[in-house]
Amino acid sequence: MAIDIKTVAGPDIRPYLDDLARLRITVFREFPYLYDGSAEYEAEYLKAYTEAAASCIVLALDGEQVVGASTGIPLAKAGTEIREPWLSQPEAPEQIFYFGESVLLSGYRGQGIGKRFFNEREAWAQRLGGYSLLTFCAVIRPVDHPQRPPEYVALDRFWDNRGFQKRAGCVCRMSWKEVTEATELMHTLQFWTKAV
Ligand SMILES: CC(C)(COP(=O)(O)OP(=O)(O)OC[C@H]1O[C@@H](n2cnc3c(N)ncnc32)[C@H](O)[C@@H]1OP(=O)(O)O)[C@@H](O)C(=O)NCCC(=O)NCCS
Repeated sequence: MAIDIKTVAGPDIRPYLDDLARLRITVFREFPYLYDGSAEYEAEYLKAYTEAAASCIVLALDGEQVVGASTGIPLAKAGTEIREPWLSQPEAPEQIFYFGESVLLSGYRGQGIGKRFFNEREAWAQRLGGYSLLTFCAVIRPVDHPQRPPEYVALDRFWDNRGFQKRAGCVCRMSWKEVTEATELMHTLQFWTKAV
């Protein structure tokens, strides 16, 4: 069956929050995030998306089932840990649109849905108008990380092909509990940017 792609915005995101949390907990459990997710962490993290009228979620639907999702929000409305590194960058936060996660169940990968997630969010930011930079961040892991599966392929080339580049020295820090740890660990995430 063909996968439908649908973009919903602001408060209309609310009915999909449980799906988004479920997908984040499932997909981010894998390397490189190794996230041991909880409903409490998700509720806190996702609050910003329902509070911002200009946020969006791009859904991948297999019939009624949400099998993938991708989010976007004006940087100025994103969480403190995302906004903070931009205080020392040349662009004003109001010019920047932030792409949150892209999470797609593994059985649906490699069919171009991830590309649609990027295209739809970029189109959304363009429709809103006033943004000159798109950004997202991704966790930094060493190539010899003990939990890296041998078949794992980094997404750097995928992001390069979407027109994004690493922003040198622009990183943020976020803590989450990893699957093999008892408490939350601090992680460093690299920002990537694309001028629009
Ligand atoms: C990121 C993600 C949504 C991409 O979804 P996707 O639908 O498989 O992506 P597409 O089919 O549109 O991507 C095709 C491109 O990615 C490459 N690609 C496909 N599967 C890949 C994989 N498993 N690993 C790395 N690259 C892959 C293809 O070579 C293709 O490259 P191109 O740009 O040269 O054509 C999906 O891999 C995912 O959910 N990953 C886990 C979560 C994650 O790490 N998210 C990113 C951080 S938020």
